[in-house]
Amino acid sequence: MQELATNATNVFKDVFGSEPAYVGNAPGRVNLIGEHTDYNDGFVLPAAINFGTVVAATGRDDRTVSVVALDFDNERADFDLDTLADAEASSWRSYVRGVLLALMEQYPDIKGANLSVTGNVPQGAGLSSSASFEIALLKTMASLNELPLSGAEAAKMGQLAENKYAGCNCGIMDQMISACGAKNRALLLDCRSLETKYTSIPEGYSVLITNSNVKRGLVDSEYNTRREQCEAAAAAMGLSSLRDASMEQLLAAKDKMSEKEFQRAHHVLTENERTLTMFDALNAGDMATCSKMMAESHASMRDDFEITVRPIDYLVELLGSLIGDNGGVRMTGGGFGGCVVALVADNKVDEAKTLILENYEKETGIAPSIFVCSAEDGAFTQA
Ligand code: GLA
Repeated sequence: MQELATNATNVFKDVFGSEPAYVGNAPGRVNLIGEHTDYNDGFVLPAAINFGTVVAATGRDDRTVSVVALDFDNERADFDLDTLADAEASSWRSYVRGVLLALMEQYPDIKGANLSVTGNVPQGAGLSSSASFEIALLKTMASLNELPLSGAEAAKMGQLAENKYAGCNCGIMDQMISACGAKNRALLLDCRSLETKYTSIPEGYSVLITNSNVKRGLVDSEYNTRREQCEAAAAAMGLSSLRDASMEQLLAAKDKMSEKEFQRAHHVLTENERTLTMFDALNAGDMATCSKMMAESHASMRDDFEITVRPIDYLVELLGSLIGDNGGVRMTGGGFGGCVVALVADNKVDEAKTLILENYEKETGIAPSIFVCSAEDGAFTQA
């Protein structure tokens, strides 16, 4: 992040002619387990990672927010807070607009600011580049305006920006972990109560992320369809959310829903159980159980939720053959491409990388990207 901070600061000085008063960051995330459970009021177990978005900023006395986006050829856009609701915005600007509008629903009187923004979360890879952008902006505006904003409140605003202004019906996981992550720890989040519990990434294991680099298409529409199917399954049982359903209830109501709705709900119910089991297993350093939970989670995403693609399944099989029951591997994120996350014993990391580099492109025709990540503090938990 240091290099990003230097770049953001240098561009800030060039454009605005002074040192920034504030430099801060918000991380992206990797989800260890608990996929598509967040918008069903369920459990997730993500970690914030050492890739993120950095903002350099200074407050202004007027109502203009002026933003320079380093990763878009230093494009600059000015947002007038008094007319924002009626303004059009596209590309990265629509996220700035959405975040500011969400923030102003609670704090209508915020002042303007000058900002430069840059990030290194790979976009469209299922590592939450947009949540990291949203939380970085919210943390910046909260700091400059001295707002008493908690991580959870910021997360809800980031989610609102997505749901209401960006057209993606996402849950709360990505924004919560970007705001409330903790160094060397994963976070068990109850997405209904927003209760948080942390557990250490086990000593002697690395978090290895492999980007399949599969170009993702139709992600938002498939995502929103999955959510609708989950909600339809809950409604068929007379419930407002799948969180309240037991497996017995689901089996008893099988005839009241479509085959697909049943499968989606089956994934969510079993995934919630696996997430809680994995949290206990991480606490106990029980890697064999972690391995089993991650393998079952992947199979459930592939067969019940139908969100994996062949190159992702291949990566999971490949890494699974090396890791065995001493770690774990599964797809992470919304699906249809993106990344695979693995817990790998430190002394096997080089072998794992070699295995991927020697086989993945040969099998799929696509070159992979590999990152060994550390778990980091979130924007609202940093000292
Ligand atoms: C995306 C969404 C999250 C969550 C995951 C799937 O990352 O933004 O809210 O639903 O997909 O677990």
